[in-house]
Amino acid sequence: MPRFISTLVFLMIRCFIVTSSSCQSDRNQDHRPRVSCVSQGLTAVPAGIDADTQVLVLTGNQFTSLSWSMYSGFSELLMEIYLDRNQIRSLHDSTFSELPRLEVINLSENKLPALPPRLLERVSSGGLKTFDLENNSVSLMPDGFFSSKPELPYVYLTHNPWLCSCAVGYLHSYLNDQEHNVYMHDGPNDIVPAADSVVCSGPPHLMTSVHQIQWILHSLIPEGTKMPNPLVFFQISNSLMFFQQTQRAGKCSGRRCTE
Ligand SMILES: *[C@@H]1O[C@H](CO)[C@@H](O)[C@H](O)[C@H]1NC(C)=O
Ligand SMILES: *[C@@H]1O[C@H](CO)[C@@H](O)[C@H](O)[C@H]1NC(C)=O
Repeated sequence: MPRFISTLVFLMIRCFIVTSSSCQSDRNQDHRPRVSCVSQGLTAVPAGIDADTQVLVLTGNQFTSLSWSMYSGFSELLMEIYLDRNQIRSLHDSTFSELPRLEVINLSENKLPALPPRLLERVSSGGLKTFDLENNSVSLMPDGFFSSKPELPYVYLTHNPWLCSCAVGYLHSYLNDQEHNVYMHDGPNDIVPAADSVVCSGPPHLMTSVHQIQWILHSLIPEGTKMPNPLVFFQISNSLMFFQQTQRAGKCSGRRCTE
């Protein structure tokens, strides 16, 4: 038994040493208590993060996925989480749901191919201010993704391979409505409005800004009109029809899409 206890004590001390040697504690410009564990090769949140922590910087580590349980112990107060420059390939709807005061989520420069449709639904209750998804591999914005946070003031979506098929409709209308809230980084300390920099990566010959896609009611197009470039969507009641530059037609019905 004493051996068990001394092993436990040893492990606890070791945890403390690992934490204190790899992470630094200070305050950020808003005087929020900050813990920074940058470029430490971490794949999980190290043990022993102070329960007062409001800003957690995990930039440049080796995280591949996240689950909310990793925040247990300091979830109540956390306001900013920086997960940029990791290897994150998957998230869950509940990844950030136990963080009631979260204001900033930075997922920039990860490898996310897709977003869970309800990721933002239970994140704080209107306090979220920044969602940074620049430089990932996301090709589709799930329908209604921002519906629980309709006026998010800083959204970064550039440098993702957005696919401009029929399913781009939600992203297109989001960019139209929220143009004033969409930015991109321009150098280390600057941001610029960037709704037009959210561009289609495909279909192959379509490299237009998602925002610039024109939506025209079919009934408004006179018979025999030559299709404007580069991409025009027609909305016919609940189905959607689009023409590409090649004049090939695609027809979409609900979520099904043939091109
Ligand atoms: C997110 O991380 C990227 C990459 O490290 C950085 O350039 C960007 O400024 C950060 N965004 C925010 C909103 O802090
Ligand atoms: C995207 O991230 C990669 C590495 O993570 C980096 O080399 C590249 O410069 C970034 N691109 C942009 C446009 O930020």
